[in-house]
Amino acid sequence: MDSIQIKGGRTLTGETRIQGSKNATLPILASTILIPGISVITHCPRISDVETMVRLLSSIGCSIEWNADELVIDATDVREYRLPREDVVRMRSSIMLMGAMLGRMGETALDYPGGCVIGKRPIDLHLMALRRLGAVVEETEQKIHAKASRLIGTAVRLPINSVGATENCILGAVLAEGVTILSNAAMEPEITALCEFLQSAGASIEGAGTSQITILGVPQLHSTVYEIPGDRIVAGTYLFAGVICGGKITLRDIPVSHMSATIRTARRLHGDVRITGNIMEIERRGKIEGIPLIRTGNYPGFPTDMQSALMVACAVASGKSVIEETIFENRYRIARELCRMGAAIEIQDGKAYIDGDASLHGTQVIAEELRGGAALVLAGLAADQVTNVMNRHFIERGYENICKDLRELGADISYR
Ligand code: EPZ
Repeated sequence: MDSIQIKGGRTLTGETRIQGSKNATLPILASTILIPGISVITHCPRISDVETMVRLLSSIGCSIEWNADELVIDATDVREYRLPREDVVRMRSSIMLMGAMLGRMGETALDYPGGCVIGKRPIDLHLMALRRLGAVVEETEQKIHAKASRLIGTAVRLPINSVGATENCILGAVLAEGVTILSNAAMEPEITALCEFLQSAGASIEGAGTSQITILGVPQLHSTVYEIPGDRIVAGTYLFAGVICGGKITLRDIPVSHMSATIRTARRLHGDVRITGNIMEIERRGKIEGIPLIRTGNYPGFPTDMQSALMVACAVASGKSVIEETIFENRYRIARELCRMGAAIEIQDGKAYIDGDASLHGTQVIAEELRGGAALVLAGLAADQVTNVMNRHFIERGYENICKDLRELGADISYR
């Protein structure tokens, strides 16, 4: 079966380590195409999105091998510019390969990666940035074909600070001729990680993590070794598990500096969060309390990827809460499943209105995407009786082993 079974209603005790960040790993893997040599990526999460990216890199000529959580990529002989449809459409981050392939090979052809249930996920800003750098991008109904003998550095301004478009522009600019000044850039920690990786390979980049990034094109990059930072969303998911279920848990390898808004929100819910270095202790004694209004936002705001987990916490917290999702147009989807478990949630005028104090009861629920699926697991932990979360493959896109991790924290949970 493609499901996860949870026997809920237990407080949590125990400790677990946090995997490497999916959203740092994917653009970094794409950027290894720019290096005519070996890239060694350590603390790499073994998740299905990474396996998809590995297949895409192999399809253009990279040779890749795993050694435990270390990925060794040799991009010396990249030669094929056409990307295979089945993997491109499986994962939106395949679009990240455009900037790297244009920078290294001068050509790329791929299908539109497509959207998902949380939103249309357009790529107009990616194509705008690469065209600004001099790429000739032809679009047909299904496909994109882009060419550039050499990309040329220039000023690029993003109308919205898209994470992916920021990353694609950086990847196109790193080997371009001249200077690229990218303004209104996204400031997420994953951008900083990508720039750190590229700088370790000889790229000249300033301003990573700010809204203005300056890239001076260099003739060539060289082999490098890089450790992926902890996944701030996986860490946030387990932090919220502790806040929702009560008890006392410890999380290790936490990227604390990337999690201020998430930690602040857990404390607003009256979770007791104690930090020592990269170790986080979460203890929740009494009831948790709802939050009158909280909006998701670009970094360093409250992450949209944590919004579904927050909805579960507010459903069981005392009092009313209102959540406003500002990044994706369709990201309240788990509300319907939570209501089937006994929550009281209404979506109106782009906001989720949550009456707290729900006593969730176990049932079968359907995951439709990654973070909503993980949030349904949290709901199962809080619910009495048994919850079966169907379509666990969505969760496995971003969580290496959510059952092992939560079992280490004291949950009664297993794959079915
Ligand atoms: C990244 O997606 C993350 N994915 C998402 O995580 C995350 O939710 C998102 O950033 C926001 O933080 C990865 O890093 C692999 P955006 P991305 O471009 O880059 C609009 C997860 O669960 N937009 O910042 O696709 C877009 O529609 C995933 O791990 C355009 O209009 O996000 C959205 O409304 C989910 N045109 C907004 O910008 C474009 O060309 C932000 O999207 C690009 C984006």
